[in-house]
Amino acid sequence: MDLFEYQAKELFADHGVPTTPGRVTDTAEGAKAIAEEIGKPVMIKAQVKVGGRGKAGGVKYSEDAAAAEANAEAILGLDIKGHVVKNLLVAEAADIAEEYYISFLLDRTNRTYLAMCSVEGGVEIEVTAEENPDALARIPVDAVTGVDLAFARTIAEAGKLPAEVLDAAANTIQKLWEVFVKEDALLVEVNPLVRTPDDQILALDGKVTLDANADFRHPNHSAFEDRDATDPLELKAKENDLNYVKLDGEVGIIGNGAGLVMSTLDVVAYAGEDHGGVKPANFLDIGGGASAEVMAAGLDVILGDDQVKSVFVNVFGGITACDAVANGIVGALDKLGADANKPLVVRLDGNKVEEGRQILADADHPLVTLADTMDSGADKAAELASK
Ligand SMILES: Nc1ncnc2c1ncn2[C@@H]1O[C@H](COP(=O)(O)OP(=O)(O)OP(=O)(O)O)[C@@H](O)[C@H]1O
Ligand SMILES: [Mg+2]
Repeated sequence: MDLFEYQAKELFADHGVPTTPGRVTDTAEGAKAIAEEIGKPVMIKAQVKVGGRGKAGGVKYSEDAAAAEANAEAILGLDIKGHVVKNLLVAEAADIAEEYYISFLLDRTNRTYLAMCSVEGGVEIEVTAEENPDALARIPVDAVTGVDLAFARTIAEAGKLPAEVLDAAANTIQKLWEVFVKEDALLVEVNPLVRTPDDQILALDGKVTLDANADFRHPNHSAFEDRDATDPLELKAKENDLNYVKLDGEVGIIGNGAGLVMSTLDVVAYAGEDHGGVKPANFLDIGGGASAEVMAAGLDVILGDDQVKSVFVNVFGGITACDAVANGIVGALDKLGADANKPLVVRLDGNKVEEGRQILADADHPLVTLADTMDSGADKAAELASK
């Protein structure tokens, strides 16, 4: 998960990385109020998850609260590379003597972590990296030994930061490594890391990517989720612990096991070619458990997709046997009642398949069609979706 600058700076503050005080707002009046509170010149900064905000007019110096309000007015709603600005960070403007670059990231190619540092930071760093790669030091970081103060100083020296600020920079770089490790980040980047005229070091920008696989260790990270930008169905699925990805077709898919669901998508897409080109509407893996609750939650998400015209349930009974799955389907349809309003094609195979089919046959639900094979099920579901 990528964070907004203001969120990255919240993490920085938690770990003692020095930055300028500021707050986020979504109105021009709010920006004015924050600027008044700060009582000094401020920067109005567009909060969008894309680089090059400054060059696109999304970062503006504001001498006083009135200027802050006017600049906020201009930046709110601005389209920066397809990202519309909804929030602004109002941050105290720092006096800048020099701008540096520092980042920590996962270097997959070399199976290690990497620190990158340069005395030539600022908005032109991409150009520098391209045209003068030697100006950007790349230092591998051992995952076991990490970055202590001495190594942080080595990184700053490799980036050719001036001697006067090495101590302060090393201190900040070490804390940024703490952010990287303790928050389970894949990227921590500060551009610019600035030197003030009195040789202080401040992080004026922040880009952080968190490793979603470590979310369970960080309950506080869920507050960083950009709920506005997440598909509402995916959000609902996530709340129910379902592995769901919305796609653009008409046939809802439920299966157990990622591999089976992936091949079901293929088979449905292929069958759809004979039925006006209908396509799978989603990926949904209900995993090992196929209780009525899980099945109902899955069906509820899929049926909430207006584009869906039919649903194909393709389950291979293993540890969770087909009779349990069949009971799950019957229970789910009961639970959903009138909300279950689209035809369902069910293909069961594997452990206790006969018992499972019998349960569905006995229930004789008007929306359910039983299929013997994956291909015939896919074909039936595609046909029903094309009607
Ligand atoms: N708090 C601040 N005080 C003074 N100057 C600032 C402040 N924040 C940003 N700036 C100036 O604005 C420039 C651009 O800001 P910033 O790095 O946050 O955005 P950006 O680099 O354009 O965006 P991105 O990093 O997303 O590409 C900085 O290089 C710095 O010169
Ligand atoms: Mg920047």
